Amino acid sequence: MCKTQCLLAFLAISVDLINCWDIAITTGDQLEFYTNKTRTNDEGVRFRELTALAHDAVHHMMLFVDKQNDNASIFSYNLLTKKYQPLVGKRSSENIQGLTIDPVSGKMFWTDTNERSIYWISLWPRSKNIYGYLLIKMDDEIPRDIAVDSCRGYIYWTNTNISKPTIERARFDGSERTTIVDTDIHMPVSIAIDQRTKRLYWADDKEGIHYSIESSDLDGKNRQQMLTGTYHQPNSLTVTKDSIYWVDWGFRSVWKLSKNATNADPEEFVQFNNEVPFGIAANYKIADQTENVDECKILANLTQNNTAVNDSIRIPKDVGLFCLHGVKTGQLECKCSAGYTGDRCEISVCQNFCLNGDCSASSDGQPTCKCRRGFSGTRCEASVCYSHCLNDGECTVSEAGTPECKCAHDFEGDRCETPKLIPTTTIAPPVEACNCSAFTSESKSRDIFVDSDLCSTGWDTVRDPILMVLGTITGLLCLVCALLVTKILQLKKRPRIKRRIIVNKNVTPLTARPDQCEITIENCCNMNICETPCFEPRNAIRPTLGDAKPGKEEKRNLIANMESQDDIY
Ligand SMILES: *[C@@H]1O[C@H](CO)[C@@H](O)[C@H](O)[C@H]1NC(C)=O
Ligand SMILES: *[C@@H]1O[C@H](CO)[C@@H](O)[C@H](O)[C@H]1NC(C)=O
Ligand SMILES: *[C@@H]1O[C@H](CO)[C@@H](O)[C@H](O)[C@H]1NC(C)=O
Ligand SMILES: *[C@@H]1O[C@H](CO)[C@@H](O)[C@H](O)[C@H]1NC(C)=O
Ligand SMILES: *[C@@H]1O[C@H](CO)[C@@H](O)[C@H](O)[C@H]1NC(C)=O
Ligand SMILES: *[C@@H]1O[C@H](CO)[C@@H](O)[C@H](O)[C@H]1NC(C)=O
Ligand SMILES: *[C@@H]1O[C@H](CO)[C@@H](O)[C@H](O)[C@H]1NC(C)=O
Ligand SMILES: *[C@@H]1O[C@H](CO)[C@@H](O)[C@H](O)[C@H]1NC(C)=O
Repeated sequence: MCKTQCLLAFLAISVDLINCWDIAITTGDQLEFYTNKTRTNDEGVRFRELTALAHDAVHHMMLFVDKQNDNASIFSYNLLTKKYQPLVGKRSSENIQGLTIDPVSGKMFWTDTNERSIYWISLWPRSKNIYGYLLIKMDDEIPRDIAVDSCRGYIYWTNTNISKPTIERARFDGSERTTIVDTDIHMPVSIAIDQRTKRLYWADDKEGIHYSIESSDLDGKNRQQMLTGTYHQPNSLTVTKDSIYWVDWGFRSVWKLSKNATNADPEEFVQFNNEVPFGIAANYKIADQTENVDECKILANLTQNNTAVNDSIRIPKDVGLFCLHGVKTGQLECKCSAGYTGDRCEISVCQNFCLNGDCSASSDGQPTCKCRRGFSGTRCEASVCYSHCLNDGECTVSEAGTPECKCAHDFEGDRCETPKLIPTTTIAPPVEACNCSAFTSESKSRDIFVDSDLCSTGWDTVRDPILMVLGTITGLLCLVCALLVTKILQLKKRPRIKRRIIVNKNVTPLTARPDQCEITIENCCNMNICETPCFEPRNAIRPTLGDAKPGKEEKRNLIANMESQDDIY
C-alpha cells in the first residue's frame, strides 16, 4: 500500500516520499512522520509548541496547532508542496485541544476548552474572518476532542466536565445537537471515527491511573470496551485500516492496538525521551476508509479529482510571522525591545537568569537580579550559608541577611571552627584514625582542621597554650591562698564580746531615758576608755566627782559587771 502511495507521489510534482508514512505525531516543535516504527522524515519545519493534529487524506494536508505562535494558531502543511501556511488567527485566551477537517465541504472545526466553544472556518472557499466562527457555545460542558463524519455530515465531540462527561454530536451548522454517550464514562479525552467499521473510538482517562479504549456505533449504541488498563494517560487517538493508535503521556509513548483485538495487550509503537507527544494522525487512505460504504460515495469521488490543494486557498500570508517583543523589520526579521532576544524576540533575557531572586531588564537590555535574603552574586547563585558553618554546624540566615551558625555539640565560634575544650579524660582517638606519616607525607589539599585533629603530635596551637596559662594561674592562686591562711592563723584571737549592756544597772533598755547612755561592749572595747561618751552618766558622775577612781579600774569593773550579768541578758 505504501508503494502505490509512493507511485502517486512520484507522479505528482514533488518527487518525494512524503506520502509514505503511517503515523504523524506532533511533539514539541516538531511534526514527525513514522513508517513502520521508524521516523522517516524530519522536515526541519520548526514551530514552537505543536499540539492538536489533523490529516486531510483527500488533499494531502496536515493541519496543526502551534500554541506559542503569536497571531496565528492553526497552520497547514501541504505534503505535496511541503509548504506551510497559517490558517487561523490567534484569539487571546484560547486553548485549542481538538481539530478536525471535512474534506468534502472544506470546513475545519476546532474546540476551545477555555471558551467552552466549538469554532469553524471554511478553507475552500476561504472564509473572510481569519479567526473563524462560533458554532456552539456551551455553559457546563468542556469540549475536548472533535471528529468529523464527512459521509453523514456530523461533528462528534467529547465533553470532559468531570461531574457530567459526555460524547455529543451535531450537524455542521450546530443543529440537532444530541448526547450519544453519557453513562459509564469518566474523562473522554479523544475521539475518532472509522468509516470502514462505521464506529466511534474513544479513549477514557479514568480517575488517574485507569484508562480504557472503547468503541460504539455512530449513534453511541453497541458499546464495546476494547481495552482497560492502568498507568496510561491517553491523549489523542486515531484509527487506521486495522489498528488504533494513541498518544500516552504516562509513558511518553504511542501505543498500537488491533481493531479486532479482544483483551489483547497494546504494543508500544514509539517511545519519546525528552519531548511529550501531543497530537496523532494516521495516513488512512480514503479508498480504504470508504470501501463498500454507500454513504461515503461523495468522499470517495473526491479523490478522483485532481486533489492537490490549489495554493490559491486565500490564506493570509502574513499571519504567524511575528515578533513577540519587538518590531518586524523584514519578512522574517525582528528588532527586539530591550530585554528580549531570539529570532522572534520570544526569549526574555531574564529567563532562568536569577537563580534566587527577581529579575528585571535594565535600560540597556541587561538582566539584573534583586536577590532574596541570604543570596548574593550577579545571578543570586551564591548562598551566604554556603560553606559558612564548619564541622556540621547548622546555618541559618538572619533578618539582616547574614549567616548564623548553630554549632554541633563539640564546636563553638562564629563559624563553629573551634573545638570545645573537653576534659582530658576523653578517650584518645582510635589509632587507625591517626596516621601521621600519611598526613605529613601527602595531601596538603585535605582539610587542615581534620588533619590536625586526627594526626595530633601532642601540641595543639590553640588548645595547649590556653591549658598552660590556666595551669600556671591555678598554681599561683593556691600558693597565695596558703600564705594567707597561715598569716591569718598567726594572728592572735581577740575576745569578741557581742553583748549589749546597760551602763546604769537600775534601768532596763525599755525604761532608759535619753540621758542614760547605751553602748555595746564591743564598741567599747575598741575605744579608749576615756573617750567612751557615756561611761558615767552625768548624774552618776557628779556625786562621785571628788573620788578619783582611775579609768582603768573603772573599765575592769565595767567588764566584770557585764560578765556577771551574762545570765540575765
Ligand atoms: C515493517 O516491520 C515489519 C515487522 O516489524 C517488517 O517485517 C517489515 O519488513 C518492515 N517494513 C519496512 C518497510 O521496514
Ligand atoms: C459540570 O456540569 C454540571 C452540570 O451538569 C455543572 O453544574 C458544573 O458546573 C459543571 N462543571 C464545570 C467545571 O463546569
Ligand atoms: C479483523 O476482522 C475482520 C473480520 O471481522 C477480518 O476480515 C480482518 O482480517 C481482521 N483483521 C485482523 C488484523 O485480524
Ligand atoms: C462518484 O463517481 C462515480 C464515477 O466515478 C459516479 O458514478 C457516481 O455517481 C459518483 N457519485 C457521487 C455521489 O457523486
Ligand atoms: C471534481 O470535483 C468537482 C467539485 O469539487 C465536481 O464538480 C467534479 O464533478 C469532480 N470531478 C470528477 C471527475 O469527479
Ligand atoms: C489555482 O487557482 C488559480 C486561481 O484561483 C487558478 O488560476 C489555477 O489554475 C489553479 N490551479 C490548479 C492546479 O487548480
Ligand atoms: C501579527 O502580529 C503583528 C504584531 O505582532 C501585527 O503587526 C500583524 O498585523 C499581525 N498580523 C495579522 C495578520 O494580524
Ligand atoms: C599510614 O600512611 C602511610 C602512607 O600513606 C601508609 O604507607 C601506611 O600503611 C599507613 N599506616 C596505617 C596504619 O594505615
